[in-house]
Amino acid sequence: MANTILAGAQWGDEGKGKIIDFLTEHADIVVRSQGGNNAGHTVILGTEKYILHLIPSGILRPEKVCVIGNGVVIDPVSLVAEIERLKGQGVKIRKEQLLISDAAHLVFPYHRLLDELREARKGRNKIGTTKRGIGPAYGDKAARTGLRMCDLMQPEVFSEKLRAKIKENNAILKALGAPGVSFKEVNDAYLGAAEKLRPFVTNTVVYLHEALKAGRDILFEGAQGTFLDIDHGTYPYVTSSNTTAGGACTGSGVPPHRMDRVIGVMKAYTTRVGEGPFPTEDAVVGDMLHGMGREFGATTGRARRCGWFDAVATRYAAMINGIDDLAVTNVDGLDGLEWLRVCTHYKLGRKRLEVPPTDSRQLAHCEPVYVELEGWKQPTTEARKWSQLPAKARDYLQAIADLTGAKLAIASVGPGRDQTIVL
Ligand code: GDP
Ligand code: IMO
Ligand code: MG
Repeated sequence: MANTILAGAQWGDEGKGKIIDFLTEHADIVVRSQGGNNAGHTVILGTEKYILHLIPSGILRPEKVCVIGNGVVIDPVSLVAEIERLKGQGVKIRKEQLLISDAAHLVFPYHRLLDELREARKGRNKIGTTKRGIGPAYGDKAARTGLRMCDLMQPEVFSEKLRAKIKENNAILKALGAPGVSFKEVNDAYLGAAEKLRPFVTNTVVYLHEALKAGRDILFEGAQGTFLDIDHGTYPYVTSSNTTAGGACTGSGVPPHRMDRVIGVMKAYTTRVGEGPFPTEDAVVGDMLHGMGREFGATTGRARRCGWFDAVATRYAAMINGIDDLAVTNVDGLDGLEWLRVCTHYKLGRKRLEVPPTDSRQLAHCEPVYVELEGWKQPTTEARKWSQLPAKARDYLQAIADLTGAKLAIASVGPGRDQTIVL
């Protein structure tokens, strides 16, 4: 299937986990290249539900190799817990099956505390983060004061660096009126996790380049989505990594010209969890989906904000990511509707906008302009072929793909592996 980047085309939770699991059948290696355990990717196999935070969603296929790349930020204690949780669900994680970059930065308890404190201090201007310490950890990385997996693999070096970091961060925490963290507790917990992770830690760049030479097919699993990208998203209501296609290169060490294809994943409607502008947000859509027991966050359990499909956003996402093919998920979420709205452009005052404004405050003032399409009013969950979808559902999917400006390749009509239609 060649080397494929899969990126979220909206605000995250597009169904990337489900599509990655589906596509992994045709890949040899699945790579995570950015984000941390703020991500929550759901894969449903039969009656079992797996939620992946740091481990690529390819892990459920035992013959595939999963890589956590240099661009990911890792909380080692939480990663060990994730491995144990998966093992408890019967997933085998052999040494040859999971590779963790020795260059990946680490997330510490003081990052989580700072994340929480900064959010609390922002009051109603908060970002609505997952409180996993992601922003402060990437902050340390950019400030060149972070600790990495290669440090953790050398206990003496690690403890010395950690002692200095804790001293500095405890001073900051104290200034913010919060208690500090204990060096001994963190040191013990992290060195304990280190020994469990040691067999998996390596230079993943070298591994991936050997795989490229051997002609193996690599799938890059994006986390979060285009509008949470630190550069291209609705700043400051974003995460702290490059969630768009370029992040797959910097976060893995695989050069751009070795990438063959970009798949954009989007829901048939729009959701967002956390604060920030969301032009097509609509309480009716939210009530309907929440009423069906859907759209609660995989990481934090928060109810996701919901709205109509926003083609202004996805068109921009197609541009930034260079999306070749689209996977549209959660088509079945719209099954009961008489009619549907699709946002084709925004109005800002008297101006017509075809792309989202850079300034989040302006985006918050944008008025979505909709076209209305007829609903199909029947279940789609049993469809396995394009021809088995109701004609109105096909029209809707074709319309949102055309407005986005990319080729419709996959339609998903349920969370299961088999509930997937390839065009
Ligand atoms: P991710 O973060 O992009 O991997 O997405 P999440 O797993 O956080 O959220 C997507 C949710 O939609 C999960 O609960 C999936 O099981 C579910 N899902 C994915 N595709 C479909 C679909 O086509 N139909 C339904 N009903 N659920 C889906
Ligand atoms: P997946 O990979 C949806 C959101 C948070 C918040 C903002 C910043 O499952 O699609 P952070 O903790 O990263 O500093 O929070 O980003 N966010 C996500 N929203 N899906 C995700 O991941 C997200 N990861 C972070 O809700 O608005
Ligand atoms: Mg998610």
